[in-house]
Amino acid sequence: MISPRAIAATSRARLRDAVYAGPVRRLVGNTNVKPSLAASARLRTIHGNSAQRAQQVAQSPHLTSPQLSQTDSQVVVHWGDGRSSTFDNQFLFDHCRCPSCFHPKTLQRLKTLGPVNPDMRINSIELKNDALHITWGTTPAHQSTFPLGFLQQASYDPPLLNRDQLLDRTPLKLWGSSIAENPPTVTYDSVMPEKTGADAEKGVMKWLEKVHDYGFCFVTGVPTSATATEELIRRMAFIRETHYGGFWAFTADMSKGDLAYSNEGLPAHTDTPYFTDPAGLQIFHCLSHPCPPGTGGETLLVDAFYVADQVAKRDPAAYETLSRLAVPFHASGNEGTMLRPPVSQPILRHDHVGRLQQARWNNEDRCVLGEGWTPTEIRQWYAAARLFDDICTSKEAEYWVKLTPGTVVVIDNWRVMHGRAAFTGQRTMCGAYVGADDWRSRRRALLRQFSSTGSADWNSGW
Ligand SMILES: [Fe+2]
Ligand SMILES: [Zn+2]
Repeated sequence: MISPRAIAATSRARLRDAVYAGPVRRLVGNTNVKPSLAASARLRTIHGNSAQRAQQVAQSPHLTSPQLSQTDSQVVVHWGDGRSSTFDNQFLFDHCRCPSCFHPKTLQRLKTLGPVNPDMRINSIELKNDALHITWGTTPAHQSTFPLGFLQQASYDPPLLNRDQLLDRTPLKLWGSSIAENPPTVTYDSVMPEKTGADAEKGVMKWLEKVHDYGFCFVTGVPTSATATEELIRRMAFIRETHYGGFWAFTADMSKGDLAYSNEGLPAHTDTPYFTDPAGLQIFHCLSHPCPPGTGGETLLVDAFYVADQVAKRDPAAYETLSRLAVPFHASGNEGTMLRPPVSQPILRHDHVGRLQQARWNNEDRCVLGEGWTPTEIRQWYAAARLFDDICTSKEAEYWVKLTPGTVVVIDNWRVMHGRAAFTGQRTMCGAYVGADDWRSRRRALLRQFSSTGSADWNSGW
């Protein structure tokens, strides 16, 4: 008997195999592939440069003379270049985007699954004006029109194109300590409408693009007040409330049960790994820290995806271990709060097609390890975590910067780790968290606003 776990693994492998045509497919799609190879291939999918990226994406079929064929339950589009895509009738009917099936304003599916069934038949079918037109044998007859571009993107048998472009997945720029020479930065003026007028929305898009590409971005020239900082953050997205509050401002006074509220040094970490959905952005502003008489308090930034990449290069099996073994985290130091996600995740978390999407690295908040692990896996995890830690704390990875009042830092907390040096003196900080989905949504909406490609009807809902 096949275990559910095996089925899940097989379908994951099939998905990976399916989506990436080209070189990656040969690496990842082979079910006999060693975990080490799978790990590095997986990583290659997240940060490849544009040239590598282009190789991974199959070319769009040439629409010279597409043809159709049919069975009772399927439609086959022959693209005219030797390739063809087979669609189940149910799939096509379900994805109809006529105004009675898909609300043209809210872009939501209006049709229930009731009328979608395996006995769906087609009355007539034709290719005209770069679209597939179907008249269904329903009562009353129903008409569907599918642009061929949509069918290429949606093709699943076989997959022809990946969906990166539709999902605004652009390549990430991994970095080490040399980022110090030219860190991603925007100015306060460029994102505030009071200063820049209508172009400020474009400014926010550029800001979010830097956060997306590098996993962090400075904003310079910010007025040194909590009010101005909060206003700046709200330009990007709304603030996420947690047990620390929403927008926060504090001096090191241990007012909360967390080391962040002390004046001790903190190694590089991601925040809130103990949430099912860890904070998406960590944003902070040092409002004042007179030095002298104060000392220290430098900010540390480390790109966890760069560290993961290095781990994969040096020891692919360690990468695989950090990607597979689930590590529990907790926050229990505040009265009335006992946070621990019901589903623990590995340090390196990948999406359904094997792209690295999230790193959780926080030694302080780690729970008791080992539930469901074998004794060997305990040893493997420590070895892998030590390698991650060694690279994370290396000269090549660490970017130290002394932030002065007027500079806000925005950090993608799913990717870039932060820390700080111990300090003395009076240090006042303020900042907030933003949800991961919220800033990504704002970025995508702005990208769409300032590009004019495609119709919302067919470009949304991927
Ligand atoms: Fe932190
Ligand atoms: Zn319809």
